[in-house]
Amino acid sequence: MSYLIAVSGKGGVGKTTLAGLLVTRLIARGCAPVLAVDADPNMCLDDVLGVEVSKTIGAVREEAREIASKGLAVGVSKQELLEYKIAESLVEAKDFDLIAMGRSEGAGCYCYANNVLKNAIGEMSDAYPYLVLDNEAGLENLSRRIVQKVDLMIMIADPSSRGLKTVTRLHEMTKEMNIEYSKLAVVVNRLRRDTMPDKIEEVKKTTGADFVIGLPDCDELADLAEKGNSITGVSSDNKIVAIIDNLLEQAGLPGNKPI
Ligand SMILES: Nc1ncnc2c1ncn2[C@@H]1O[C@H](COP(=O)(O)OP(=O)(O)OP(=O)(O)O)[C@@H](O)[C@H]1O
Ligand SMILES: [Mg+2]
Repeated sequence: MSYLIAVSGKGGVGKTTLAGLLVTRLIARGCAPVLAVDADPNMCLDDVLGVEVSKTIGAVREEAREIASKGLAVGVSKQELLEYKIAESLVEAKDFDLIAMGRSEGAGCYCYANNVLKNAIGEMSDAYPYLVLDNEAGLENLSRRIVQKVDLMIMIADPSSRGLKTVTRLHEMTKEMNIEYSKLAVVVNRLRRDTMPDKIEEVKKTTGADFVIGLPDCDELADLAEKGNSITGVSSDNKIVAIIDNLLEQAGLPGNKPI
C-alpha cells in the first residue's frame, strides 16, 4: 500500500504549490517514484511540476461510458481497454509520474466507469511508494473514494482569521464525509512575519492536528510562478524547503535525509 499525502484547503491558498514542493522533496529524500495526482478540474499541478498532461481521467471516464454501451471486438475486455487508456493518460517524468483527474462526470450514469477507474487507479497507484494528491477547493475527490485512506492530510490556509476558520470547517467536513486519515498537518501559508497567528492554538485544539507549521510568504516561489517556471527549480536553501523536509521527517517518512 502506498503512503498517501493529500493537500486540501480553500481556493488560492497554495495547495498546488505545496503539492509540487512535496513531490520535489519526497524525491530529494529518496522516496521516488512518486505518483502526483491532480484532482483539480482546473489542472495546474502539471505546470508547477514542469510537465504537460495530454489526456485526463475525465476524458477516459467519458470513453468508458461509450465503451460500456458498445460491443467490443472478441478477445478485448472492456476492463483491459480502459486500463490501457488510463495508462495512456499517465505523464511520465524522471522520478515521478502524474495523472490528472480532469473534470468530474456530467449527467447520466457513470457507475460502471467510476468502478473501473477506481480499480484501475487503485492497482496503478500500488506500484508507487508515495502518492501526493492535489485537491480542488472541496473534499469531493476524497469522499468519492477514488483513492485509498489518507496517511497524511494537509489542511492549508492563509494566516487571516477567516482563513483559519476554513481549516476548522474542513476538519468538520472530513468527519461528516467519513474521510479518514492517520495524521493531520495544518499549514499556515504566506506568513508575513516569523510568528504564527494567535488563533492557531485554538485551531490546533479543535482539529487535533498532529503538526502545525507556518510557511513564509516567499519571493522565490512568487517569482517562479510569475515566470511560469516549474517549482522543481526551487533552491535547496530556501527556508520553505527545510520546513517541508522537517514535516516529512516528523511524519516519520522513511528515506534518505535530504542533502
Ligand atoms: N508561500 C508562498 N509565497 C509566495 N507565493 C506563494 C506561496 N504559496 C503560494 N504562492 C502563490 O500563490 C498563488 C496561488 O497558489 P496555488 O496555485 O498553489 O494555490 P491553490 O490553492 O492551488 O489555488 P486553486 O484553489 O486555484 O487551485 C500562486 O501564484 C503561488 O505561486
Ligand atoms: Mg491548485
